[in-house]
Amino acid sequence: CAEQFDFQALSGRHVCITAGPTREALDPVRYISNHSSGKMGYALAEAARDAGARVTLISGPVNLAAPDRVERVQVESALQMLDAAMATLHDCDLFIAAAAVADYRPVAVAEHKMKKGSDEIMELRLTKNPDIVASVAAADSRPFTVGFAAETRDVLQYARDKLTRKRLDLIIANDVSAEGIGFNSDENAVTLIGPNSEETLPQSSKQQLARQLINRIAEHFNEQTK
Ligand code: CTP
Ligand code: CA
Repeated sequence: CAEQFDFQALSGRHVCITAGPTREALDPVRYISNHSSGKMGYALAEAARDAGARVTLISGPVNLAAPDRVERVQVESALQMLDAAMATLHDCDLFIAAAAVADYRPVAVAEHKMKKGSDEIMELRLTKNPDIVASVAAADSRPFTVGFAAETRDVLQYARDKLTRKRLDLIIANDVSAEGIGFNSDENAVTLIGPNSEETLPQSSKQQLARQLINRIAEHFNEQTK
């Protein structure tokens, strides 16, 4: 792709990005989580940095090194990720939620390792986690807020619904049913949706795509704050 990357698009801005999965503890040795690699969020952090921004990367547990010149805040659970997001919010211009936050966590965390019972069936009681990106978007003097929607069907419809429901400025719709893209893979193809816009970016490496997304997001952001 011959598109020019704008190395100044976000200069002087503070960009906060959530990335990776969260881990919801069951007991001292077990947790509920998902297969998110964190690659998309980390690629966005590098692209935002290259566009001149100061970047805070709020990351769940992943096998990735902290990018150079990016401040990484490491968290485990959704509640910790929410705390970290709320703590950086006050001086954040742009918030991008790329994390795959666990929708539920165990109602209680056992103090000791749970023992196997005699029953063949074991049931877990779960409670809903707070919605981090929606909490950010609901805050006073909120940053320009961008979310992701990972879907396996009715992708654009669900994404538009999340854009409205979470009061986001933009949403990046991601079809994770297709082979070789999305979750835990190196490539991705997405549609960037705003209240009055829709643009599909072709499949490419997460690095390439991150740069295109940061360019586009910066354009929408600069348009709104003009
Ligand atoms: N998100 C979040 N906090 C949560 C759940 C999701 O910040 N507790 C964010 C994700 O980081 C993403 C967006 O919300 O930017 C959409 O996540 P997704 O899992 O697609 O949406 P949900 O609202 O959880 O709906 P569902 O999983 O039922 O499709
Ligand atoms: Ca979810």
